[in-house]
Amino acid sequence: MQIAMIGTGYVGLVSGACFSEFGTTVVCADKDASKIERLQAGEVPIYEPGLEDLVTKNAAAGRLRFTTDVASAVAEADVVFISVGTPSRRGDGHADLSFVFAAAREVAAAMQGFTVVVTKSTVPVGTGRELEAVLRESAPQADFAVVSNPEFLREGSAINDFMRPDRVVIGTSDPRAQDIMRRLYRPLYLIEKPILFTTRETAELTKYAANAFLAMKISFINEMADLCEQVGANVQDVAQGIGLDGRIGRKFLHAGPGYGGSCFPKDTIALVKTAQDAGSPLRLIETVVAVNDDRKKGLSGRIVGHCGGSVEGKTIAVLGLTFKPNTDDMREAPSLNIISDLTAAGATVRAYDPEGMPEARKLLPQAVFCNDAYDAVTGCDAVVIVTEWNEFRNLDLKRLKSRMASAIMIDFRNIYDGVTASAAGFTYSSIGRPR
Ligand code: UGA
Repeated sequence: MQIAMIGTGYVGLVSGACFSEFGTTVVCADKDASKIERLQAGEVPIYEPGLEDLVTKNAAAGRLRFTTDVASAVAEADVVFISVGTPSRRGDGHADLSFVFAAAREVAAAMQGFTVVVTKSTVPVGTGRELEAVLRESAPQADFAVVSNPEFLREGSAINDFMRPDRVVIGTSDPRAQDIMRRLYRPLYLIEKPILFTTRETAELTKYAANAFLAMKISFINEMADLCEQVGANVQDVAQGIGLDGRIGRKFLHAGPGYGGSCFPKDTIALVKTAQDAGSPLRLIETVVAVNDDRKKGLSGRIVGHCGGSVEGKTIAVLGLTFKPNTDDMREAPSLNIISDLTAAGATVRAYDPEGMPEARKLLPQAVFCNDAYDAVTGCDAVVIVTEWNEFRNLDLKRLKSRMASAIMIDFRNIYDGVTASAAGFTYSSIGRPR
């Protein structure tokens, strides 16, 4: 069995490396020649724990190759995964499928023998059907089946998520494709994880439904946190109190600055559009989108409030820039709102992130970038924790305070507590917890 993985972005690279780890030969193809050159030299262009080792090991074993030659990769493959980007389309929020269809045309021209064409990218319900039509039109004689096999991996723990999935969803009614997909995922069967075979439409929608539900859990607990602040309750205890009910579940109930990243913001909006177009609007998810947008826009206001009503002429340290820890991804990160709004309000922002700074420098030229947390807080009037990287969880708070002009700590991830921070001399505020 041989796989062609088209697109070496996050999903493509992780999935390709993991399939090769299971012993399948994988050829990853991408148009971006410089990216392929780097990968051929064993250099992984994204930060994902464990990925570089996995790529190096399987490339050395000859199971994982990288090429710009999409046609040959497809011609040799039994299964072609389309893992190209599906960004938000400018203007209307629908998923932009131009990369998917461009890849499909190349696949059509190169397929040989029975080929399973799989969408791994997150694509709106109905895309599989359209893809099949495009392939059929471009290659009327070809023998192929189009399958939806959405990916549920999280940045930062992508390899573990791929290797030990809660489930694998495969959408196809074609028995030959089902058989090939079953064989491909057989190593996962061995550890007794369910593989759900569904229709293509169901698989496509399941991906969006999962992300929308998780985003809804986050917005739910974020609003609950706001209420906790008003009534003197503790959102972490509320989260535990409800999360221990197995029907609710404990995960994704961490209140914070709002969700970001390359998936939840874009997928919730795309799902809302799909539902509106289908005449079956998802009012809950429309509200989730609005709640999260408002939350991010309101972050700087919270900081200003904690700084006595104005940040003009003040210096604020921002710790953590990426949308979550263990990634270098800055997409839709709450830090973008915070830093733009604070600097617009006349503050100087000193920022630090363990992995996100190369990208952050491009996006936030107005910030001063620092070497570590202690460097960032030097001379600052307040420190704001925006992303819960491990290296921020056990800072020497006395040392931190000694470098600051005034000791205000605003903890948007609840990684400290009032007692510890006050003992070090900080005026401390967090999300949804009594002071
Ligand atoms: C998300 C999903 O969790 C994956 O299952 C899915 O495969 C992926 O999107 C995708 O569609 O590709 P990811 O965006 O990598 O994964 O990150 P998450 O860990 O889900 O976090 C998303 C955002 O929610 C982050 O900004 C995080 O800080 C926030 N979050 C998460 C909270 O604010 N509270 C929580 O309790 C959990």
